[in-house]
Amino acid sequence: MTVGEILRTATAFLDAKGVESPRLDAELLLGSALGLTRIQLYTEHDRPLAAGEVDAVRELVRRRGCREPTPYILGEWGFRRLTLKVDGRALIPRPETEVVVERCLALVDGVATPRVLDVGVGSGAIALASADEHPGARVTAVDASPDALALARENAARLGIDVELREGGIADAAGEWDLVVSNPPYVLPSEYDALQPEIREWEPRVALVGTGLHEELARRVTRGWLVLEVGDGQAPGVADALRTLGYVEVTVTRDLAGRERVVEGRRA
Ligand SMILES: C[S@@+](CC[C@H](N)C(=O)[O-])C[C@H]1O[C@@H](n2cnc3c(N)ncnc32)[C@H](O)[C@@H]1O
Repeated sequence: MTVGEILRTATAFLDAKGVESPRLDAELLLGSALGLTRIQLYTEHDRPLAAGEVDAVRELVRRRGCREPTPYILGEWGFRRLTLKVDGRALIPRPETEVVVERCLALVDGVATPRVLDVGVGSGAIALASADEHPGARVTAVDASPDALALARENAARLGIDVELREGGIADAAGEWDLVVSNPPYVLPSEYDALQPEIREWEPRVALVGTGLHEELARRVTRGWLVLEVGDGQAPGVADALRTLGYVEVTVTRDLAGRERVVEGRRA
């Protein structure tokens, strides 16, 4: 079997299993199994594969066919300038969360040593990217999940980025922070069963399901900026809640797909 043939077979298999982007996923998995870039999959299209290579590809594609998310299979995933280790201990960082970091960096631009708190650190995506891109930032990040914290610590160590990581939660938002950021769980319990299997069966429920956490956080913050990732359709309600609580400069930002996914405001 050649590289091109196994790519076609894997794509058709993943398509039949209901995977949303079968070609892309097949390319990523083949690339990982064979140690090739996506371009090389095409330049080496006609290269015959050794039996061991075929087995390695089959194993990764089999896992994807069980709807295990591609980032968990690869074991790492890109987030802004970083490559993060990812596994079932924490949520896979999403592209819309890169916009959350973008807003945080814009709000503390020009502040030499801003004090930043990330509530619900997960893999470490927001906290580590913020510290990476604003070297003066003093970033603290908390999570209720010891598993997520362990993964965030591994990522901080691998990347050599200095952030304070500790067990904690919403109560930590009260304090002398220049900016509090959070991507809290915001899937309603009633929405959970309708999530794709990749999310429902593989990502930690504690990272997904939550009700009213945006407003709870907004009540706790005592000063500075608050930046929140919200679910599709939640932005108007969260923005209204911030205004009602006395926040000023309340702004909603869209993600790259044009959906309102980030709400920010400043404690007057
Ligand atoms: C949606 S994930 C976000 C992870 C990461 N910040 C990201 O954007 O990829 C939410 C995180 O919040 C944590 N969490 C949930 N409820 C919490 C609470 N009450 N206090 C602190 N962390 C909480 C979960 O363990 C999970 O890691």
